[in-house]
Order: sequence, then structure tokens, then C-alpha cells
Amino acid sequence: MTSHPTRVILGITGASGVLYGLRALEKLVQLADEVQVIASSNVQDIIRTELDSGHAPTLESFVETLGPFAADVHFCNPKSFFEPPASGSYRHSGMLIAPCSMGTLGRIAAGTSDDLMCRAADVCLKERRKLILLARETPLSLVHLRNMTSVTEAGAVVLPASPSFYHKPESLMDAIDTVVDRALAQLGFQTPAKEWMK
Ligand SMILES: Cc1cc2nc3c(=O)[nH]c(=O)nc-3n(C[C@H](O)[C@H](O)[C@H](O)COP(=O)(O)O)c2cc1C
Repeated sequence: MTSHPTRVILGITGASGVLYGLRALEKLVQLADEVQVIASSNVQDIIRTELDSGHAPTLESFVETLGPFAADVHFCNPKSFFEPPASGSYRHSGMLIAPCSMGTLGRIAAGTSDDLMCRAADVCLKERRKLILLARETPLSLVHLRNMTSVTEAGAVVLPASPSFYHKPESLMDAIDTVVDRALAQLGFQTPAKEWMK
């Protein structure tokens, strides 16, 4: 019996909360053999806005901090369809978009497939593969809610960037982990997510 490498697609969009995406990447490289990263053109602006310049000035320099795991990361050209996630023939375990903007969520709901992010998500839906959307916006308009309903009906999981507090997180990263670990569990990975009453 041949065993296939565990491949995952991580999309990162221009919604607030880029730390969700970076933390997911940090964890995914330890769980998967290959991580295809699709970053929207807005991500660098969010990194500049939300993080200390010393922490992660670029996505690429963040990946360098992952040491030997950096080799498992492949940066896709978000404008190209000549990338593995653009085709259903590329077998993978699922796609997580973290954080997922309402713009990207709406384009996925409409099936536009007009860039690699939306095409890769569309492929997940047509191939009945896991698609987890770590959605970030508040409050939600009726348009957002309808789009969330559409993608849910099509098979995606909408996982709001909504940290839990019942395990008393001691840091921002602890709070972020309460969301990221749930997202990774949805992809089928064993995570250290604490269980209720344990
Ligand atoms: C600092 C900043 C924070 C933003 N936060 C959000 C957000 O939380 N949710 C959202 O849907 N859009 C947010 N936006 C707007 C998106 O970046 C914008 O709609 C963009 O077109 C989304 O496209 P993308 O999904 O391709 O990155 C934010 C923009 C900026 C500059």
C-alpha cells in the first residue's frame, strides 16, 4: 500500500487577524508534509498594520523563522492558475482560509474562480473536499449571512474568528489558538485543543 503525503492549502486574505493565518501556518508545517500558501495581495498591508515590523515584516521572512519546516511551504502566485491548487487532479486533505474576508467569502459563494484563492476553494467544493473558512467581520450584514449560507450549503465550514475564554487564555496567542486549533481539527488533524471539562 502506498502512503500519500499530507498536503494542505492555506489561504490568507486581507481581513483583520493575520495572526490567525501565521499561527495556522506555524502549526500546519508540523502536521502536514506540504503546505501550499495562497496569500491575497492585501495581506502585506495587514501585516504592516497589525504586527510590529520586527515580528514579521513579510510572509516570506515569517516562513524563514520556521527553520527546516520552511522547505514544506510553497508560495503560490495568487494570480496564476498554473499552480497545483488550481486543479482537482492535485490531491490534498483540504483548504483553510485564515482569516477569510467577506470579499473572498462572497466570491467563493458566487463561484467566480477569478483568482487562485477562489479557484482553489471552488475546486474543494466541486471535489467535495474540506473547505474551512475562518471568517472575520463584525457585525455581519445580510449579504455576509446569505453568502455564509450559500457556502455552507455547498459543503464549506464557516468557522468565525471567535475565540473562547472558558479555558482562561493567558495571552493573545492562547486566545488565537482556541480558534486555530478548532480550524485544524476541522481539517482532520489532532490538535492540542483543550476539551470542555478536562
Ligand atoms: C486594516 C484592514 C483591516 C480589514 N479587516 C477586514 C475584516 O476584518 N474583514 C473583512 O471582510 N475585510 C476587512 N478588510 C477589507 C479587505 O481587506 C478588503 O475587502 C479586500 O478587498 C479583501 O480582499 P481579499 O479577500 O482578496 O484580501 C480590512 C482592510 C484593512 C486595510
